Amino acid sequence: MKTLTGVATAAAFAAGLALAAPTAQAAGGEHPPLKTQNWTFEGVFGTYDEAQLQRGWEVYTNVCKSCHALDYMYYRNLEQIGYSEDEVKEIAASFETEDGPDEWGEMFMRPAEPLDPIIEPYENDAIAMLANGGVVPPNLSVMTRARDGGADYVYSLLLGYEDSVPEWVLEADPNFELAPGKSFNSYFPGYAISMPQQLFEGILEYSDGTPATPQQMAKDVSAFLQWAAEPELEDRKTLGRYVLVFLVVFTALLYAYKREIWKDAH
Ligand code: HEC
Repeated sequence: MKTLTGVATAAAFAAGLALAAPTAQAAGGEHPPLKTQNWTFEGVFGTYDEAQLQRGWEVYTNVCKSCHALDYMYYRNLEQIGYSEDEVKEIAASFETEDGPDEWGEMFMRPAEPLDPIIEPYENDAIAMLANGGVVPPNLSVMTRARDGGADYVYSLLLGYEDSVPEWVLEADPNFELAPGKSFNSYFPGYAISMPQQLFEGILEYSDGTPATPQQMAKDVSAFLQWAAEPELEDRKTLGRYVLVFLVVFTALLYAYKREIWKDAH
């Protein structure tokens, strides 16, 4: 029996290791350690919190959307975070998208529909750069996968602004100066970021009544971006749990089989 438990534990452990979401830490260098959060989607049994994702969408659409695209995402994807079909129709219809050409060869604007991609903030990169000091605000739909630290990085970045260059940077580099149009951010590589601070007390009210503190908004929008980058995470984990159960049962069967074969040899 001891062997069986041992093997099963080892199998479960190995499977668990393979399934646990990798959570890279700290950006390195002199950056302060990331403000790591407890996320509902971490670990083998992690799942998304729909209420949180919906609040995150509210932050995205009220704050981030004016500069950042969510490539490859369609309004109908919002059904996956708990909005009903009608709610998604309503959300989509609050945006205008270009369509056409019509019978006179003209392009025209119409309300967006659930099958439309989420509207991009700028018509092209040139306009985006003009509006943002020469930098194109990156697409956010894969951001948590593109950066070490994932959601913890996005969370820390959003809350990592300082009004003036802090002492610990000047100690390391007395000549550090912030170029005009840049903001200081403790977590951004090189510290000088072209995105001004976004999250302040009182900029929005959540429709579920949760107080919209900067920390709360940072957490919700980071979780939302994690979902945008990995909408299939829960399916993957469910599959992982089936594999785990299968491994345990399979190990038990093998063990029973082995005993059966060897029973006369003793
Ligand atoms: C006024 C325009 C503007 C708004 C609004 C805005 N951003 Fe940005 N954001 C930028 C720009 C410009 C950059 C590129 C910064 C750079 O490269 O210096 C950026 C970069 C980023 C990055 C990438 C940082 C990196 O490591 O490269 C993240 C993540 C991000 N923004 C998240 C958000 C989120 C979340 C919101 C909403 C809460 C938001 N942004 C709102 C302009 C904006």
